[in-house]
Amino acid sequence: MNEKIRDQIKIAAEIIRKGGLVAFPTETVYGLGADGLNSVAVAKIFEVKNRPTFNPLILHIENIDRLNTVCEIPGDKVHDLIEEFWPGPLTLVLPKKTNVPEIVTAGLDTVAVRMPDNLIALELIKESDTPIAAPSANLFGQLSPTRAGHVQKQLGDKIDMILDGGKCSIGIESTILLIENDDVTLLRPGAIPLESIREIIGEIKLFPKRSEHPNAPGQLAFHYSPQTPILMLTVENIEKHKDEKIGAIFFKGNDSKFNFEKEIILSNNGSLSEAAANLFSTLHKLDDLQLDCILIEPFPLEGLGVALMDRIQKAVAKYEMR
Ligand code: TXA
Ligand code: MG
Repeated sequence: MNEKIRDQIKIAAEIIRKGGLVAFPTETVYGLGADGLNSVAVAKIFEVKNRPTFNPLILHIENIDRLNTVCEIPGDKVHDLIEEFWPGPLTLVLPKKTNVPEIVTAGLDTVAVRMPDNLIALELIKESDTPIAAPSANLFGQLSPTRAGHVQKQLGDKIDMILDGGKCSIGIESTILLIENDDVTLLRPGAIPLESIREIIGEIKLFPKRSEHPNAPGQLAFHYSPQTPILMLTVENIEKHKDEKIGAIFFKGNDSKFNFEKEIILSNNGSLSEAAANLFSTLHKLDDLQLDCILIEPFPLEGLGVALMDRIQKAVAKYEMR
């Protein structure tokens, strides 16, 4: 890390300690950070994102000792998961301790915590000397940011500072697990595939039913949407929109006999991790081209493909409902 970025981190940490907002890079997406133990600072996150306050935030920590200060650690599975995946894109939802403000957890008795795998993020948390509460640094419901410029576009004039750490290496949000005694439930598919989690702790429960968790966070029907209408790339949708300016996103290549106004291939050699790293930045790019619609090819439902399809399904849901 060079001197310049070190100096910027010091300034950013000062802003966090004084209750301000700093956008910072993580390995998944950029986060919009505030002092996670200062409820007034955290309230500003909800305000600038336009985020409903029933949707709780993740606390980002930089060392394991800090974990004990914000939550209980029930059972061995948590230790095994942390040992294997931290620092990294795994968020654990655990019983909270009383010093965590209600606004962080939306009044729930659990708190989401993760240790990001990004040197700038880790250094910022360390210098700030507090857990940093951070959602993705985008306006509520819109595309997640994987570059500093994406944050600038949506939130630039509303926050105190953006730390530029270049492109996020993974490009898709963390996997979220709810830990209850010995039960582990997947709340959001993400950068760590289910297969890898099962290798460490065995079978886990899948998405909670809405009926069991009436206000389960992360269960919003639509999210991650560009401003340009987005639909699945299917024969019917191509037919329906054939007279329009279409931007097409392919996983590894255009097998259709159509030529589109703009075509983007996420990974020529069919790598899901390369596709994940390029997905949000591709959507940001197409969103700036004044297209009539974006058509996106479905991903295979294995490994990271599950998380990618989750994001795409939520993005298209907004437009399918019209
Ligand atoms: O990769 C990531 O996780 C990124 C980076 C910045 O760390 N953060 C992120 O935050 O994606 P956000 O706020 O966009 O998504 C956090 C999700 C939300 O769906 C929220 O409902 C869920 O975590 N969540 C937070 N606390 C929870 C809790 N106590 N119980 C259940 N879900 C929780
Ligand atoms: Mg988000």
